[in-house]
Amino acid sequence: RQARPDSEVLMAIGPAGVDPDAALGPGEKLAHSPAMLSLDKCYDEETLIKWFDKFEGKAVASPKVDGVALCIRYDAQGNLSVAATRGTGAVGEVITQNVLHVQGVPRKIAQGPVEVRGEAYMPWSTFRAKFEDDYMSPRNLTAGGLKRKDGENTKDYGICFFAYDLLGTDLQSETQKQAFLKEQGFVPVPSMFVEREDLQSTFDAFVGDRASLDYDTDGVVYKADDVAEQQRMGANSHHPRYAIAYKYQGESSKSTLREIEWNVSRTGSINPVGIVDPVELSGAVVTRVSLHNLAIMEQRELTLGACVMMMRRGGVIPNLESVLEPGDAPIVIPSECPDCGEPTERRGDFLFADHNESCASMRVRQLEHFVKAFEMKGFGSKIVTALFDAGLVLEYEDFFRLDKTALLKLDRMADKSAQRLIDNAAARTTVPADVFMRAFGIHELGRHVSKILAKQCANMDEVFEITAEEMAEIHTIGELIAKHVTEGLATHREAMERVMQVVTVEFPEPVDEDAPPAGDTDSPVYDKSFLFTGTLESMKRKDAQARVEALGGRAPSSITAALDFLVIGDKDMEKFNEGWRSSKLKKAEKFIAQGADMRIIAESEFVGMLGE
Ligand code: IVH
Repeated sequence: RQARPDSEVLMAIGPAGVDPDAALGPGEKLAHSPAMLSLDKCYDEETLIKWFDKFEGKAVASPKVDGVALCIRYDAQGNLSVAATRGTGAVGEVITQNVLHVQGVPRKIAQGPVEVRGEAYMPWSTFRAKFEDDYMSPRNLTAGGLKRKDGENTKDYGICFFAYDLLGTDLQSETQKQAFLKEQGFVPVPSMFVEREDLQSTFDAFVGDRASLDYDTDGVVYKADDVAEQQRMGANSHHPRYAIAYKYQGESSKSTLREIEWNVSRTGSINPVGIVDPVELSGAVVTRVSLHNLAIMEQRELTLGACVMMMRRGGVIPNLESVLEPGDAPIVIPSECPDCGEPTERRGDFLFADHNESCASMRVRQLEHFVKAFEMKGFGSKIVTALFDAGLVLEYEDFFRLDKTALLKLDRMADKSAQRLIDNAAARTTVPADVFMRAFGIHELGRHVSKILAKQCANMDEVFEITAEEMAEIHTIGELIAKHVTEGLATHREAMERVMQVVTVEFPEPVDEDAPPAGDTDSPVYDKSFLFTGTLESMKRKDAQARVEALGGRAPSSITAALDFLVIGDKDMEKFNEGWRSSKLKKAEKFIAQGADMRIIAESEFVGMLGE
């Protein structure tokens, strides 16, 4: 197969391997040719079928990955020459040095010149392990990670890439393009053929699978497979006619942005929260919506009085989806911390102030974070604020020294609830080391790093003594993270040591890999592995995994031939019996057909095995 430069830009690449793109530096602009368009949207089967009937041949369906669209060009020698974000669609921002640290992007391919387009994303597993405590969404982090000034820093984000398009070859179908991309070392976005009668059921299957995918999706993309048909159909200025996105529904509603509240976070950033006219969405009244940071707020060109579209992301978190009509008053960015009055300044995407000691907001956020990390029951936001305002809890250790007489002076505090608070704090005077380390809000010392440090060190002194260089040596902790964590530990050491006078910090016993697993040797779960798929009805997936592990079983996160049980929800089991298959189920059936000793069981059978 011969690669052929057929788009305008690819023609512009010089014949003697002199590639003008390669000279483009970070932050410079790159013109997309053809433009990186959007997708047409639909929300029902009828519209989808109408679209399908406009062309000949099959369609291919793939998940619509909610990430950041990129274009990556390779020169005639197959070397990666330039990469850019989608930007406006016509012009993107050059991020070549960053893309070198994205998984699934080869630096050299066998044939060029070509341009590859696709979606960069952060896997949920990475987000949950490393960032969940401090960031709103994997998408924002992906965008941030790709724009780091020093491309090396992008590595710390664990960003991955799905390829969904290829320009500059004469391949005649999406299927052939995918095969080519795979040969060259890309990860093509998972996709499958669909016939007319499967259009809706394919969508349904994706909806069913959504929760078990390791990346965020917001719909299903359908494309005509045949490239000649795609060319015949063409595009308008907004989207190609040969593709369409069937979007997952989320209730949305119009509202008006009235004002901005500026909230001091526990890291000291001052973040905008939009106050909108009340709207009911998926069963709850929404009036407040996080606008995340200055950069995101500006990107949306928000003004007060703007008519906005509100939605709850994943049906839960209020989100301002788009601005329908601009308002009439500009948003004024405060020049002082609304709480302590210190002057503000912009640092990157965020508004910051060097808050003084009296900045109550920040302190309260830190105290709230502490009790949340410590899993101390009964200490909600209201109680923590009341305790702080009354001067009963100013430092972390004060939670463990609460006095009943003082508590009873608080508004609406009865004897029983006062005693409960004291007992709940006392119940958390011994905590695992990773919980302890996370509680002080140190930048980058989240779930992932704290667990690693707890495993590597025998006590807190060792944690305090570890140098940034030593920490950076540990697998999956990058240099930048190591720097933040060691600096944070040094700054918070005193506060941590004061808490250690009242709290015992437990480090895990070093594990003997060869020893038989601990647990209940009589349980049918003991030494067996369980993977869960779809929605469980009787418990959360996380709890199911915890119960398996408590009984001495294993709960791997992906399917292999060695798996003992694939557990599916009872409702899904009904669908399964009627012929429906998710991708995990398909894989399981394949392994079983190849002779693996694996069983697909319903949730109710699994619950029976727990023997409770
Ligand atoms: S095909 C017009 N396939 O969605 C370009 N796009 O809302 C045809 N996207 O800019 C793209 N997952 O970045 C395609 N499986 C997928 C996709 C996908 C996500 C993005 C793409 C596009 C945006 C439009």
